[in-house]
Amino acid sequence: MKTVTVDLGARSYPIHIGSGLLGASVLYDPCLGSGQVMIVTNTVLAQHHLPVLQGALASRSPQTLILPDGEATKTLATTERIWDALLAARFGRDATLIALGGGVIGDLTGFAAACYQRGIDFIQIPTTLLAQVDSSVGGKTGVNHARGKNMIGAFHQPRCVIADLDTLHTLPDRELRAGIAEVIKYGLIADAAFFDWLEEHLDALLDRDADTLTHAIAVSCRTKAAIVEADEREGGVRALLNLGHTFGHAIETGVGYGAWLHGEAVAAGMVMAAELSARLGQLPAAAVERTRSLIQRAGLPVHAPSSLDADQFLALMAVDKKVQAGRLRLVLLRAIGQAELRGDTDPGALRALLEHFPRGP
Ligand code: NAD
Ligand code: GLY
Repeated sequence: MKTVTVDLGARSYPIHIGSGLLGASVLYDPCLGSGQVMIVTNTVLAQHHLPVLQGALASRSPQTLILPDGEATKTLATTERIWDALLAARFGRDATLIALGGGVIGDLTGFAAACYQRGIDFIQIPTTLLAQVDSSVGGKTGVNHARGKNMIGAFHQPRCVIADLDTLHTLPDRELRAGIAEVIKYGLIADAAFFDWLEEHLDALLDRDADTLTHAIAVSCRTKAAIVEADEREGGVRALLNLGHTFGHAIETGVGYGAWLHGEAVAAGMVMAAELSARLGQLPAAAVERTRSLIQRAGLPVHAPSSLDADQFLALMAVDKKVQAGRLRLVLLRAIGQAELRGDTDPGALRALLEHFPRGP
């Protein structure tokens, strides 16, 4: 097992990465308070992995809430279902919520925990690669609004993150590839050597080789932890974690939540950000090609959806959370391994990118 620590003073927590962790009671004990425990999961995880977790927590007699699957579940209405269940069972401020699932369950459960009685503890048990390398770490929680992704939320750090590689055995290939998009993101924004390593080890990652996965998850979590430690509430450098996300969120919202996976939308968005960086003369064409090629080899989209034209993209991008004083701010690349947040992007260059970027299904 590898453990990466997110060092945030009194709110520090471990991320445990390895095989066979889901059933290891010893990992939960230090993170559970004295109160009641509720597992929040969905119908898919309930079939595959819930019994092992329930076994590990048997001595705490946890309650379980099983929600519908899918991004469409990440709403305020579903959060209310969690609050209803907590109130019905008279959970107090010493209670702990446990999120067993991907980013949808993690974001929802974390948000429910952030608001219930002004904040209770929660534990993240991420079961998708995307959640293990990104969404379970850093304390961003929230839900979608019909007008924009993740528009309602709170910062609320988990007490610990338990990333069990064995849970990935049941993950569909398409979901694995979506997680690889976020892994590639860390190479692009902060770690050129890791990007080189990914170019070399992508096939082993796609084959789910355990050592390769462990390395990729640990490096990704270390990079994310360092960024979150430097800027927990996204006043500056944390925005770099949003490479590709302004385009990606526009795609997710534009095509309807769930039609494109988050990681797929981010993948296309990262190619768009790289190409825009090149159009602005700040990134060599060779770096754009390496970005496009790695993303394509991972089986991820390198095109935008044909249903979104440039005007629709611009309208959707205008509700991005990085908009400041009405000005769009975009994460762009200077090199592979070096990203920057720019608020002065030439609108003409952005429109030209959106008009000419390849479209596909
Ligand atoms: P997800 O939670 O919808 O999971 C993807 C699919 O895989 C679902 O159908 C799920 O039921 C299934 N699944 C999960 N684990 C499985 C397993 N082990 N075996 C079989 N099936 C499994 O999607 P995701 O990609 O994990 O997360 C995407 C969400 O995360 C988006 O809502 C995105 O906005 C959010 N996100 C949040 C952050 C953050 O910092 N909070 C960062 C990135 C993404
Ligand atoms: N996924 C972006 C962040 O955590 O800041």
